[in-house]
Amino acid sequence: MLKILIINGPNLNMLGVREPKIYGEMSLNLLEDELKSYTKNKNIVLDFFQSNHEGEIIDKIHSAYDKIDIIIINAGALTHYSIAIHDALKSVAIPTIEVHLSNIYNREEFRQQSFIAPIAIGGIYGFGKDGYKLAIDAAIRYLDGKAGGLN
Ligand code: DQA
Repeated sequence: MLKILIINGPNLNMLGVREPKIYGEMSLNLLEDELKSYTKNKNIVLDFFQSNHEGEIIDKIHSAYDKIDIIIINAGALTHYSIAIHDALKSVAIPTIEVHLSNIYNREEFRQQSFIAPIAIGGIYGFGKDGYKLAIDAAIRYLDGKAGGLN
């Protein structure tokens, strides 16, 4: 059983309402439901967590230590300045995949730096909500690879 923690940071609880042209029209609840159906019968347990507070996200990352196989994180704006989240992910040493709905590299300059990227296995950005499914697929392939079969 593969245990995946999916963390969404600040303002992602406003999906569907917030700048829909950039972030899409689906609410976070519906997106989480879609991901649940996507992983049905795949031997995967998804743990969803959203917070607007940096400290709560850090606590959640710490609580994943030794319990979670892989973290998928869209840290929202915290991506661009949170050394504390960077350090938390490093502390637990759980493989991490970075996700962004938008392409952070073709937007404002302040979005073009990520403090998650240096500690991530890899990142997916610019594919909207599909990015989370792509990240789940990448997580499965990555962990398969560790078991000896990435191809
Ligand atoms: C985001 C991009 C961030 O720059 C922004 O602050 C967000 C959402 C994305 O998913 O595209 O909150 O992480």
